[in-house]
Amino acid sequence: MIKKCLFPAAGYGTRFLPATKSMPKEMMPIVNKPLIEYGVEEAIEAGMNGMCIVTGRGKHSLTDHFDKNYELEHQISGTNKEDLLVNIRDIIDSANFTYIRQREMKGLGHAILTGRELVGDEPFAVVLADDLCVNPDQGVLSQMVALYKQFRCSIVAVQEVPREDVHKYGVISGEMIKDDLYRVDDMVEKPEKGTEPSNLAIIGRYILTPDIFELIEQTEPGKGGEIQITDALLKQAKAGCVLAYKFKGKRFDCGSVEGYIEATNYCYENVYLKSQDTKTNKK
Ligand code: UTP
Repeated sequence: MIKKCLFPAAGYGTRFLPATKSMPKEMMPIVNKPLIEYGVEEAIEAGMNGMCIVTGRGKHSLTDHFDKNYELEHQISGTNKEDLLVNIRDIIDSANFTYIRQREMKGLGHAILTGRELVGDEPFAVVLADDLCVNPDQGVLSQMVALYKQFRCSIVAVQEVPREDVHKYGVISGEMIKDDLYRVDDMVEKPEKGTEPSNLAIIGRYILTPDIFELIEQTEPGKGGEIQITDALLKQAKAGCVLAYKFKGKRFDCGSVEGYIEATNYCYENVYLKSQDTKTNKK
């Protein structure tokens, strides 16, 4: 039902300088896999096959990652190292990758609008790859697609965060309509301390209906002089319906050094070592 997933990946990643000076933040590895590959896997698990990536200057390695590397493949062909490429080969074979360039970094809302050409007139998912979400039973996008089937409106993923961190996020308030699901009535981007409508922070997973594009077009630059997706979503919520879903699973803010280290430790223990065990048992 939802076939396309948009990955805004044009940001500068300033919190991770100097690592991100010439390398896209989305290519930073968590153990042995770049962040964006985790996001693409989550989208594939949720039934999507169109990966639409919004890139910027200096992001060539993103495009190269989802393409064949004949020289390397020839070099390791017939050796046991070939196994290391099985996963990425499967991904390349099972999805289509399209790219568009955001020429000026005018904010997340603007990056999403830039992806309109690739997405077209259909509901779509958005993944911010630096938010790594892990849930072994069902990925976060999969959980959100199941909700979309029922409610047919835009959905944002939210997480309760400590009060002292709320000002770093877009924050929602709303009426709880069932367990872990809220109908949004207010949304504020990076609220001033003391004015937070709640501690439910929006994280990097969205399902958006295509009318959002017109709403972004009508949105003036907001917080930080950027075109904010939260401002467009608030208009959508007022005119119709936007849901906020407290997802099941863990989320790591890999755009920050602390979150990145936590994600690395967690994935090494719980994802990487387990996949090695499975491989050994198969042999
Ligand atoms: P962030 O707020 O994390 O910004 O953007 P950033 O530039 O990537 O990182 P810092 O804060 O400077 O360290 C959230 C997401 O939106 C994308 C980013 O690539 C990231 O995935 N984005 C942001 C764009 O694609 N274009 C923009 O103009 C802004």
